[in-house]
Amino acid sequence: MYRKLFIPGPTEVREDVRKAMDFPMFGHRMPETSKLMEETVAKLQKILFTNNFMIIGTCSGTGLMEAAVRNCVKKAALHSICGAFGKRWAGISKSCKKDYEVLEYEWGKGISPEDIEKKLKTGKFDTVFITHNETSTGVLNPLKEVAEVVSKYPDVVLCVDAVSSMAGTEIRVDDWGIDYILTSSQKCFALPPGLSIASVNEKAMQRSAEVDDKGYYFDFLEYKKYWDKAKQPSITAALNLIAALNYQLDKIVNQEGIENRFKRHAEMASIVQNWARENFSLFADENNLSPTVTCINNTKGISIKGLNEELSKSGAYISNGYGDLKEKTFRIAHMGDLTVEEINWLLGEIEDIIG
Ligand SMILES: Cc1ncc(COP(=O)(O)O)c(C=O)c1O
Repeated sequence: MYRKLFIPGPTEVREDVRKAMDFPMFGHRMPETSKLMEETVAKLQKILFTNNFMIIGTCSGTGLMEAAVRNCVKKAALHSICGAFGKRWAGISKSCKKDYEVLEYEWGKGISPEDIEKKLKTGKFDTVFITHNETSTGVLNPLKEVAEVVSKYPDVVLCVDAVSSMAGTEIRVDDWGIDYILTSSQKCFALPPGLSIASVNEKAMQRSAEVDDKGYYFDFLEYKKYWDKAKQPSITAALNLIAALNYQLDKIVNQEGIENRFKRHAEMASIVQNWARENFSLFADENNLSPTVTCINNTKGISIKGLNEELSKSGAYISNGYGDLKEKTFRIAHMGDLTVEEINWLLGEIEDIIG
């Protein structure tokens, strides 16, 4: 059954993008791959306003979260947590046997740059981890301000999870001084799941060169070695997905325009936020509202599962609350290639169902 996805990933993938994956196979050591990679990387750099080295990983975003831990933590990590995905990153540090501390906030609140600064002043940490957009709560964290704080500490590497924000809102990697930032393909890029993307600057690369026991698959230096040699991936990459990414980036950069894409996300977010204020209430702090996903308090006590069953009949699907927030909240994603018209249509459908 086809349902238009208003969930925070995977998002709706348009038919022309799906078709961009359908071509006769070529090999990952053939010139076609070098051309594809070079084109794709150049466009990704535009999305992030960076000249940094880019990784296109054949794994979901969590893989490149683990890569950050393995390559960047030498002494100790500071994990800022305000929801499920920040918590997951700290869990990865734990399972990789890294020294780490957490700076934890109540769900719905954003991370404070001042708190990060206080922690960094102790001199204990050489890595800071932050979730830019916490998908479980609909919170956007003040990335630019956090990066400004971390930039004062030349030995500290800043790692950013932008899984549900990259390509949906402005992130100026070079101007803001972001050392490492990653995302997944199935969110604001509106591609199928299976790829991840990261930008790695010199500082993060240098740190990787100083860290032992990184394993092989996620070693930044391996990615870099194959790129320098032939602009190719270190492993047999998901070439069809990369071709879809290349095609989609053309649409983003050359057709819609990146600034217009950010504006469309902001407009959809504002429509959903206003609707939620009128009909329910917002879970996230007003100062930290996400431009890509809105988490709404279920103040009417409706069955969210039931709502989704009804919505399915109209050909739409939203997200229940995450973990303990299930049925207490629900989430509407306004990311990827969705339009203002589609968002308005969805809200109308929900109103018809809840009466
Ligand atoms: C903020 C955030 N980080 C990390 C992840 C994990 O990404 P993946 O499922 O691509 O591994 C998600 C997935 O929803 C996410 O929203």
